[in-house]
Amino acid sequence: MGKIRQITLARRPVGIPQADDFRLIESERPVPGEGEFLVAMRVGSVDPAIRGFLDDRPSYVDPVAIGEPIKGMSLGEVVESRHDNYPVGTFVRAFAHWSDHYVLAGDAWGLEKVHPHPGTELHHYMGALGPVGLTAWVGLFAVGEAKPGETVVISAAAGATGSTVGQIAKASGCKVIGLVGSPEKAQVIRDLGYDAAIDYRATPDIAAEVAKAAPEGIDVYFDNVGGETLEALLPLMRLHGRVAVCGMIGQYNDADHPHGVKTLWQLVVNRIKMQGFITYDYPDVLERAQNELDTWVEDGELKPLANVREGFEKLPEAFIDLMSGTTIGKTLVRI
Ligand SMILES: NC(=O)c1ccc[n+]([C@@H]2O[C@H](COP(=O)([O-])OP(=O)(O)OC[C@H]3O[C@@H](n4cnc5c(N)ncnc54)[C@H](OP(=O)(O)O)[C@@H]3O)[C@@H](O)[C@H]2O)c1
Repeated sequence: MGKIRQITLARRPVGIPQADDFRLIESERPVPGEGEFLVAMRVGSVDPAIRGFLDDRPSYVDPVAIGEPIKGMSLGEVVESRHDNYPVGTFVRAFAHWSDHYVLAGDAWGLEKVHPHPGTELHHYMGALGPVGLTAWVGLFAVGEAKPGETVVISAAAGATGSTVGQIAKASGCKVIGLVGSPEKAQVIRDLGYDAAIDYRATPDIAAEVAKAAPEGIDVYFDNVGGETLEALLPLMRLHGRVAVCGMIGQYNDADHPHGVKTLWQLVVNRIKMQGFITYDYPDVLERAQNELDTWVEDGELKPLANVREGFEKLPEAFIDLMSGTTIGKTLVRI
């Protein structure tokens, strides 16, 4: 039998999450039933969406109850199996929870086998070579319909998704402008090859700065933050522009007081398509997306950007840093 470690929700966060919102506990090691398998977590994914699961409000995932483990994506190795397709030693990615061991069934949400290449660090399969890359690809191409020669603007451009979107947009022949929250992040995206980097905290007028960098207007706005930034950029969209709404992290820490976007009329003026998406709603394109991501990484056109901590117990700390806006690239914890 033995014990496992879990990180549970001790109380609902108010604003930016705090260490006391989480609790590290020991539980009995679960036993897989027929058709199930036990997975040892190897890489925990730290995602902004988790902030939404911690509030007691309806979302696309039920809220985490007080005392329950935090829900999230993770990559692990099968260590005990009663499922023929998932023998011991298989690496799998799935929506699970913050437990160093967890039981999955064959129909678990987001369940995929992972085939790590020798020489590629495992954590990248939870980043640019995994859900992050797929989100970037789906948002940019399936939703944003980006084409070579078009102008793409990305918010949270040095973050996990943003840094991937920018690089694959450049690799596809787009002009790319990134919005970031610090001079350090601006340098990071310049080094990744973005055509322009704008530190939105250092300018009183985001729209004026973006208009200077993109006098031709915006074809695709890849929105990670929502709020004031979305409001400022809608009037800069070109005729038939597309807004791929990936997320609205700017609103997550204070979801009771969302910013009212006052420029929505621009959707009509410029016949803009604005669409929210969840990556795994696009199963038909995921294989193509994965192949292209693999190729871009092999060719050096996509450099996976990640900040990685060691140790299961570091999950809350990594999440707090993510939700404080201080991280660069994909936030991960290796176990
Ligand atoms: N639709 C999907 O399937 C899907 C999948 C994955 C992620 N997402 C969404 O994509 C967005 C980016 O997620 P990610 O995983 O790539 O994370 P990330 O970009 O690494 O997230 C952190 C960054 O968000 C920016 N940010 C802006 N306002 C913030 C605020 N009020 N508090 C904290 N950070 C803020 C910060 O960058 P700056 O300092 O540069 O602003 C921060 O470094 C999120 O909205 C997320 O929910 C959606």
